[in-house]
Amino acid sequence: MKVKLIKLTKEYEKQLGEMIDEWKLDQQVNHTDGSPWVIFKNDYRDFDYYLEHLETKDTSQGFVPDSVFFLLDEERNRLLGAVNIRHYLNEHLLKCGGHIGDGIRPSERKKGYATEMIRLALLECKKLGIDRVLICCNSSNIGSRKSILNNGGVLENIVMDDGEPMERYWIDIK
Ligand SMILES: CC(C)(COP(=O)(O)OP(=O)(O)OC[C@H]1O[C@@H](n2cnc3c(N)ncnc32)[C@H](O)[C@@H]1OP(=O)(O)O)[C@@H](O)C(=O)NCCC(=O)NCCS
Repeated sequence: MKVKLIKLTKEYEKQLGEMIDEWKLDQQVNHTDGSPWVIFKNDYRDFDYYLEHLETKDTSQGFVPDSVFFLLDEERNRLLGAVNIRHYLNEHLLKCGGHIGDGIRPSERKKGYATEMIRLALLECKKLGIDRVLICCNSSNIGSRKSILNNGGVLENIVMDDGEPMERYWIDIK
């Protein structure tokens, strides 16, 4: 596996559209988790707007600043997924959102990519000065739970969010 985290650039405009279309179809058909929501919040067809508004800079509406990375397979030059790192926790994120939201496109799941993407995201967290990372997942999301556990996640508790049990895991970064 030769993958790395990249920031989105114009070079990936076409690929981004293909990935989002594939992903949205899966969400409609299989009702899968919509994480990371930030890559779906704007229409990729207006790429300049999409890119400009991908990361949160304006915190006036209660959102915290974040970084968005895409996982790239270097050998195939293929986008595999995306991860959203919130720079600090507000009340809501502390309860159940966490620092990291991630997702792998449907056609690339169960190949170890989420596990590797979280590992790489933890290195980015360290660069941001976050030494204790909160990651949460729905109790029914086996793949997400395993990818968190594979990275050393320690369960603190399970809280209810909108009637759904959410597991809260902490990872200490050395
Ligand atoms: C959850 C998700 C990120 C997992 O991505 P992935 O690349 O398939 O994960 P990995 O390949 O690293 O798998 C990690 C482990 O979970 C297992 N796994 C993955 N998906 C699974 C599933 N649907 N059912 C059962 N096990 C699963 C893998 O076999 C692997 O097991 P192992 O550690 O024993 O080898 C992906 O399914 C996804 O994007 N889902 C939609 C968005 C989402 O739920 N994001 C997480 C929000 S909290």
